[in-house]
Amino acid sequence: MPSTAPDFRPYRTADGSLTLRSDAIDEHYHSVVGAVNESTHVYVQAGLEYILGGSGDRPIDLLEIGLGTGLNLLLTWIRCLEGKCAVNYTALEPYPLARDQLLALDHWNDLAWPGLEEPFLERMTVDRSYPWPAIGGLTFQRLVLHEDQFKNDGSYDVIYFDAFGPNTQPEMWTAEVMARMYKALRPGGVLVTYCAKGDVRRTMQSVGFSVDRIQGPPGKREMLRGTRVS
Ligand SMILES: C[S@@+](CC[C@H](N)C(=O)[O-])C[C@H]1O[C@@H](n2cnc3c(N)ncnc32)[C@H](O)[C@@H]1O
Repeated sequence: MPSTAPDFRPYRTADGSLTLRSDAIDEHYHSVVGAVNESTHVYVQAGLEYILGGSGDRPIDLLEIGLGTGLNLLLTWIRCLEGKCAVNYTALEPYPLARDQLLALDHWNDLAWPGLEEPFLERMTVDRSYPWPAIGGLTFQRLVLHEDQFKNDGSYDVIYFDAFGPNTQPEMWTAEVMARMYKALRPGGVLVTYCAKGDVRRTMQSVGFSVDRIQGPPGKREMLRGTRVS
C-alpha cells in the first residue's frame, strides 16, 4: 500500500451497486463486475452458507480481515435477520471509513434493508472495546487493528479474507499471514477469498490448508476456499 492515502471515491459496478475506487493505485474495494454479487457469492454463499450446512443450530463465529465498506457485514446481517443463522462477527480494519463515505455508498438501500442504516453506521464508526449486543441474531465487534496485531487461536468457523489483492498488498498474502489465519480457525473451519492465484493457493497449502478451487463470482472463473483439517 502507498504511504499516502489513496483517493478512494464511489464507483458504480456492473450489478448497480457502488464500491470505492482509487485512480491513483488503480484499485477497488470490490469487483467492478458487481460489488454485491461478488460479496454474496464469495463470502456469504461459499463461506457462511457452506459452513452453516455442518454447524447444526449453534451461532457461527466469524472473522473478517478488511471490513472496508461493511458490505459483507450487511449481507451477513440480513441472513441473520431472515432467521437463517446467528453470527458473532469480529472484523479487523486498520483504516476505518468515515460516516460520509459510508453514506455515499448507500448499501443498505441497495439491499432493501433501510432499517439497518443507523445500527450499521453506528457499528462501523463508533469506537467500542466490547461487542455490540445482538440485533437480529448478529453480535458485532470492530477492531481498529492490522491483521498481525490480532490473535485469537482456534476460535473461528469462517474467515472472510478480503484484503486488497496481492499486486496492491503483497504483505497480506504471505505464508506468515496464512499461518495466522489457519491457527485462528477451528478444525473444520474455512477461509474464503476472491483471489484464485496459484501462488496464493500454494502458500495456503504450505501452512496446512486443504484448498479447493471453486466457481468464482460473476466475471471470475474461480475463487479459493481453504479448510483447516485438524
Ligand atoms: C478489498 S478492501 C475491503 C473490502 C471490504 N470487505 C468491503 O466489503 O468493503 C480491503 C480492506 O482491507 C483493509 N486492510 C488493509 N490493510 C489491512 C491489514 N493489515 N489488516 C486488516 N485489514 C487491512 C483496507 O483498509 C480495506 O478496507
